[in-house]
Amino acid sequence: MSDYLPGLEGVPATKSNISFIDGERGVLAYRGYPIESLAEHSTFEETALLLLDGRLPTAQELAQFDDQLRTNRRVKYNIREMMKSLPPDGHPMEMLQTAVASLGMFYPGTEGLTGSDVGRNLDYVHSMTVKIIARMATLVAMWEHIRNGYDPVPSRTDLTYAENFLYMMSGKEPDPFHASIMDTCLVLHAEHTINASTFAALVAGSTLAAPNGVIASAIGTLSGPLHGGANQRVVEMLQEIGAPEHAKAWVDKQLAVKAKIWGMGHREYKVKDPRAVILQKLVEKLAVYKGGNVSPLFETALKVEEVATERLASKGVYPNVDFYSGVLYAEMGIPADQFTSIFAISRCAGWLAHWREQLADNRIFRPTQVYTGEKDREYVLLGARG
Ligand code: COA
Repeated sequence: MSDYLPGLEGVPATKSNISFIDGERGVLAYRGYPIESLAEHSTFEETALLLLDGRLPTAQELAQFDDQLRTNRRVKYNIREMMKSLPPDGHPMEMLQTAVASLGMFYPGTEGLTGSDVGRNLDYVHSMTVKIIARMATLVAMWEHIRNGYDPVPSRTDLTYAENFLYMMSGKEPDPFHASIMDTCLVLHAEHTINASTFAALVAGSTLAAPNGVIASAIGTLSGPLHGGANQRVVEMLQEIGAPEHAKAWVDKQLAVKAKIWGMGHREYKVKDPRAVILQKLVEKLAVYKGGNVSPLFETALKVEEVATERLASKGVYPNVDFYSGVLYAEMGIPADQFTSIFAISRCAGWLAHWREQLADNRIFRPTQVYTGEKDREYVLLGARG
């Protein structure tokens, strides 16, 4: 019983060389490269390849990977037909989980590995990885139109990943500045050690489940408000607060009933999440781009951070990645219930890197439990029960 740690806090569940967090110093690095450098210099495509292969690609390698992503954006029209039959008011994350899980049926031959020797299956793993990353953005953007009663906007191969996503979401030529912000957001969300959704992917992957099923498991796990679903909650919280001058009373009311301040706190970080620092600067840049108009949501967020930090810093609770991302997406006109889907589009690069790493040295996850139920009960036949 003494070995049981709720939430597996501090329990190493795997070995990994993909990313690293120093939660005391606010450090995050992918494959040894600080997140700040990647956010400044790398695209999402390059970051995804870095996560998958473990090193920065050459220009030629990147161009080849980018080309593979571009040519795999389209999906079969029967997937659109299936999506049309889903309830339009369903949550986009539930749609995404459904659609990704269905990909294995629409594309036979994607049913998974039959052995754990990834050395002999690297081509399959790479090909599935490319297809899933390429299709995720397509599915999310398709749903935006289908749920509103329109046909989806076809993908384009002449645009970057972020540009194409914005184009497919809106049907309009993407604003280059918005596309660069979206690209940085995708870089920042792509990987984060063994978080809950990555763990879900690892557990599913360890059974040699088909890759679309592995990612569907991770999407379901990401959707919860304690994980990726928090970004939607943050913007809803800011809208409810309404204005910076209401922040103090609102935060105190929440804390008095032990409720959460969304977008704050993290199991790993005891300081402000380094991604929140970068995202906050991006909101400031976007405000300048928009002619100095700071969004009311942003002003409210700044005040909530100030008040909540005063109250919660002693517990090591500071803004996490979800605190400012939603403000950015809202400014770009993206509906709040799609924020977590954008997180998923990006994080699937990390999930797939971990899937590949797991397969290279696989052993099925099968932890144990502390049984707290009754034992040796005498079975009573139905007719004899009182
Ligand atoms: N608002 C208010 N209090 C918070 C808080 C928040 N967002 N996050 C943590 N705390 C408090 C807890 O109430 C607890 O206080 P206590 O010791 O007095 O009971 C303490 O800080 C430790 O929190 P705990 O819930 O044990 O941490 P955890 O590691 O189990 O959970 C999270 C981490 C992320 C699930 C948690 O911080 C949270 O729910 N945050 C809000 C949801 C969110 O933004 N999720 C996205 C994460 S990227």
